Amino acid sequence: MTNANHIVVAEHICKSYVGVQALDDVSIRIKEGEIKCLAGENGCGKSTFVKIIAGVESCTSGTIQINGKNLTKHTAKDAIDEGIQVIFQDLSLFDSMSVADNIAMNKLIKEGKPFTHKKEIEKIAQDALSLIGVEMPLDTQVKELSIANRQIIAICRALALDAKLLFMDEPTTALTKNEVDSLLDIVLGLKKRNIAVVFISHKLDEVMRIADSITVIRDGHKIGDFSADELDPKKLAFYMTGREVNYQKYERGYEDQQNVLEVKHLSKKGNYQDISLSVRKGDILGLTGLLGAGRTELALSVFGLNKPDSGEIYFEGNKVEINSPEDAIDLGIGLVPEEREAQGLFLKKSVNENVAAAILKRLKGFMGNIDSNGSRTLSKEAIEQFRIKVYSEDTIISTLSGGNRQKALIARWAASKPKLFILDNPTVGIDIGSKAEIYEYIQQFAKDGIGVIIISDEVEEIVSNCNRVVVMFNGEVVKEYTEEEMQVPNIRQQINELVESGKITEEGGQQA
Ligand SMILES: Nc1ncnc2c1ncn2[C@@H]1O[C@H](COP(=O)(O)OP(=O)(O)OP(=O)(O)O)[C@@H](O)[C@H]1O
Ligand SMILES: [Mg+2]
Repeated sequence: MTNANHIVVAEHICKSYVGVQALDDVSIRIKEGEIKCLAGENGCGKSTFVKIIAGVESCTSGTIQINGKNLTKHTAKDAIDEGIQVIFQDLSLFDSMSVADNIAMNKLIKEGKPFTHKKEIEKIAQDALSLIGVEMPLDTQVKELSIANRQIIAICRALALDAKLLFMDEPTTALTKNEVDSLLDIVLGLKKRNIAVVFISHKLDEVMRIADSITVIRDGHKIGDFSADELDPKKLAFYMTGREVNYQKYERGYEDQQNVLEVKHLSKKGNYQDISLSVRKGDILGLTGLLGAGRTELALSVFGLNKPDSGEIYFEGNKVEINSPEDAIDLGIGLVPEEREAQGLFLKKSVNENVAAAILKRLKGFMGNIDSNGSRTLSKEAIEQFRIKVYSEDTIISTLSGGNRQKALIARWAASKPKLFILDNPTVGIDIGSKAEIYEYIQQFAKDGIGVIIISDEVEEIVSNCNRVVVMFNGEVVKEYTEEEMQVPNIRQQINELVESGKITEEGGQQA
């Protein structure tokens, strides 16, 4: 077979880590100017493939040709020299340097040029920005930019180095709806310039919108290469998981009508204002709207991490002051935070220690007696229940795939048996099959009388799981759907339309 027009021809790639076969005989070809999506469940090997082609990790066996050259054991520098660039999730930008400096830096370093000619630096930056049709002040410090704009800088930095192939591993997880639209447009624009993009996302609608071809991987094996028009999200989900994925709709059946949480007229300047809402035992309350609507800030306030300016919080009927996460945990509040890496996991510790962390305080002194049989049994159960893909409960959590880390975090809070369980965008980065399992688990929680709040941008997630829904824009509640209203047949469409209408105001930026 001819390899003409292929940037990458990877054949029979295997990669094993201790106890894990991350990739097993995977062959993937990437053509010039093609948008290829890699799809598959958490831990199936997508990020591993990216790292191998980018020269960050080497494969155990197999061969790799890049631009027709045999480069199997290549380094990251070799890959860059061949025009391969990865937009890593942390973006690796220099915060206190300007937009222009960040875009031009790698090119100047590569060419061994001094970092002094402002005109040249600005020209490199401007050319790269023009390539994707974005305008941005060149002298702004990168730390002042939104995540979406930082991502654009990282893309431009790659383009300045004459990228022919760009890997984007879950680039949309932290973006608002409008920003996702712009990013997908940029990706389509790159294709027009004959730059190939390998795009990874668990949001199958994004995949369907841009993909030319989709390679499905399951448990380290390639299931197949498909052209985008032979798939729809349902079929794709089937190939990814090997089964039909359906979400059960939640119905509250709990007798006790007591409020677990009630907030009255809660306000915090710049975050949210005059919020009143309640959660009964057995309620799953959905908080939707758009990224930046003030939902996360509200959740952090209930968890003692963001002191409100005014208003009242009642827990099980009693007025409470929640001044720290310890106060919240003592009351029986659990929070799966939005910023998992920063606020959630102990990355250098094992799965066991992470899962056990939330209950240890109850069992014994915090972080004491960490190897007790109790915590070990619990971690093993959690690994099984959430299908966390891991060699053993002693594995260090940072070696888990993104989605599996997230599952461990949910498992940890679930293990603490909270009375109020707040989950902030819990399934970002979680594959479609595991989502169904997590939903089932959360619903069982609520059936047992726990009050649950799910913050989510995904209307489907909200409609399947929540018996009541509150929509927030710009720090304010704009609509509340009662239990009865959630029963109407076109509720999904109603909520969708309302949320979409918020996109217009979203550009206006932050809250009151
Ligand atoms: N450094 C490592 N040490 C041990 N195991 C690893 C290491 N890196 C990856 N793995 C394992 O390899 C497998 C594939 O992981 P990978 O990150 O490629 O998955 P993924 O498809 O990107 O999943 P996700 O959708 O959750 O991001 C996982 O089981 C993971 O735990
Ligand atoms: Mg990954």
